[in-house]
Amino acid sequence: MIVLGIETSCDETSVAIVEKRENEKFGRVLSEITLSQIEKHKKFGGVVPELASREHSSSLNRIICKAIAKSNTSLNEIDAFSATLGPGLLGGLLIGSNYAKTLSLAYNKPFIAVNHLQGHILVTRMNKEINFPFLCLLVSGGHTQILIAEKYNDFQILGETLDDALGEAFDKVAKLLGYSYPGGPIIEKLAKKDKKKIDFKLPKPLINTDDMNFSFSGIKTAVRMVLDNSFEKKNEASLAKNFQDSVTECLLVKCEKAMKLFKKKFNSGSFILAGGVASNNYIRKKLKQLCYKMSMEFIVPEQKFCMDNATMIAWAAIERLQNSKKGDNLEISPRPRWPLDNLCLK
Ligand code: KG4
Ligand code: ZN
Repeated sequence: MIVLGIETSCDETSVAIVEKRENEKFGRVLSEITLSQIEKHKKFGGVVPELASREHSSSLNRIICKAIAKSNTSLNEIDAFSATLGPGLLGGLLIGSNYAKTLSLAYNKPFIAVNHLQGHILVTRMNKEINFPFLCLLVSGGHTQILIAEKYNDFQILGETLDDALGEAFDKVAKLLGYSYPGGPIIEKLAKKDKKKIDFKLPKPLINTDDMNFSFSGIKTAVRMVLDNSFEKKNEASLAKNFQDSVTECLLVKCEKAMKLFKKKFNSGSFILAGGVASNNYIRKKLKQLCYKMSMEFIVPEQKFCMDNATMIAWAAIERLQNSKKGDNLEISPRPRWPLDNLCLK
């Protein structure tokens, strides 16, 4: 089975062609072309939706042609066309999904509408055997959730952020420090340089509550207050480290709760860290240690599959096709909001 995937939900225009052979366990990426719009949005301090749509619109056709050429396949050999239907920015979702629908009509092959978050989670299964159910922490620019994946299309959310997503909090703190978007990698780099170990006493919101929810906007406000209080630039590495430590501590406490619950129910299993923030090496290291303590297998996608990419979309479509051969109705519209625990498209 060969599937073409399109990802245009935010600021990456990405197209991938992924193959899954019947006699093989895993998928192989025949090609992936990803064009990041970061440079275009940098000066605005975040993604500008209208600008993102224009960029997707002007580059998607070229990227599809390049991906086809690189894969050594032809459009005739593609078995299904898939695209992100949501969640994300409406303009980009419309451009990507309409292109996939058009190809599906022209070549008389199924159209598969993919949930972006499902893509982030399932892509780990493309080249590693991971059985359901598994526990997952999804941390991206738009979402922060702890969930149990029961099946490829059945997710139970145990907890989530009540305000900012974790990636968003990293981006906002970087912006407060005067850095450009995306802030996550910049904060991580700064934190690594911290030698002074100053304690700014940042809060760890919801750390003592029984639930598995998060709240990151208070930490960001606390950072702003530190900055407003005759802050010296030379101490910024310490502040970045304090921020990274505080949010990581929140993740660890809530994930430990989730692991206890998961193990009570299923005895053992895997813990998957997914989404853009999963690129953070400090967060990876700390969660890996927690998994070791809790006797759970720690799994994180390759760095290149943590950030937005079309391989994860094509792979999620393959998992779907392996379970049901039917494509989606071409009448369905993009969903800027599309929660993982309500994937039904009717
Ligand atoms: O999953 P993703 O590529 O896009 C969304 O679906 O949102 O995640 C992007 C987010 C951004 O907020 C970015 O700052 C964050 O992931 N991020 C990081 C790191 N690399 C990317 N956050 C913390 N540390 C990093 N190394
Ligand atoms: Zn994403």
